[in-house]
Amino acid sequence: MLNLVLFGAPGSGKGTQSEKIIDKYGLHHISTGEVLRKQIKEGTELGKIADSYISKGHLIPDDLMVDILRQELKGLPKECKGVIFDGFPRTIPQAVELEKLLAETGSGLTGVIGLEVPEEELVARMLKRGAETGRADDNIDTILNRLKVYHNQTEPLKEHYQDKGSYMQINGLGDVDSIFSSIVKALEEK
Ligand code: AP5
Ligand code: MG
Repeated sequence: MLNLVLFGAPGSGKGTQSEKIIDKYGLHHISTGEVLRKQIKEGTELGKIADSYISKGHLIPDDLMVDILRQELKGLPKECKGVIFDGFPRTIPQAVELEKLLAETGSGLTGVIGLEVPEEELVARMLKRGAETGRADDNIDTILNRLKVYHNQTEPLKEHYQDKGSYMQINGLGDVDSIFSSIVKALEEK
């Protein structure tokens, strides 16, 4: 199993690069943000709860998020070659739970791809997408809060994974294909 975490700030290119990695390696994509946006769109109870956090740029509580991830993992096809975790984990407790859940399935985490992008570029990308697609959390107030939450709650995971020797630092600035080439190179060297 090739299990990868796509790690990075909001707007760093996790979703964009996930698609390319999936095409090349035939992995299954679990984007917790996409799962939550689908629930919001369908107007489910979970969607209503999720919306109250996402619209403010806050994280969904860990217990709820881990339950959602467990469900997603249950739904994987038997012949799955591996998973890209895009947007999960976002806190240390989520990382600990992910390790446990993967161990239960007899596999583990292969590595963490960390996309590093300067803050002004992140803001510019999200504002552009907000204008083009209307994604609800891509407005300046929510973007600034998402970045604050990232620094306070998610960035500490970088050190957690560096200590484990699983963090692969990737320059996420530049054109999409060159960033993808750096990812492939890092995976091949692993
Ligand atoms: P989530 O959906 O995960 O959003 P995010 O982390 O804020 O990141 P984005 O999806 O905005 O960016 P991305 O890194 O995927 O970049 P993308 O490829 O789209 O989470 C949303 C919310 O859900 C959270 O705030 C939280 O509330 C909740 N949530 C989700 N998971 C959770 C969890 N585990 N725990 C608790 N709460 C959770 O690229 C961004 C834009 O830039 C796109 O328009 C793209 O076309 C463009 N772009 C990409 N690459 C480049 C490039 N190289 N050059 C120029 N433009 C580029
Ligand atoms: Mg995304």
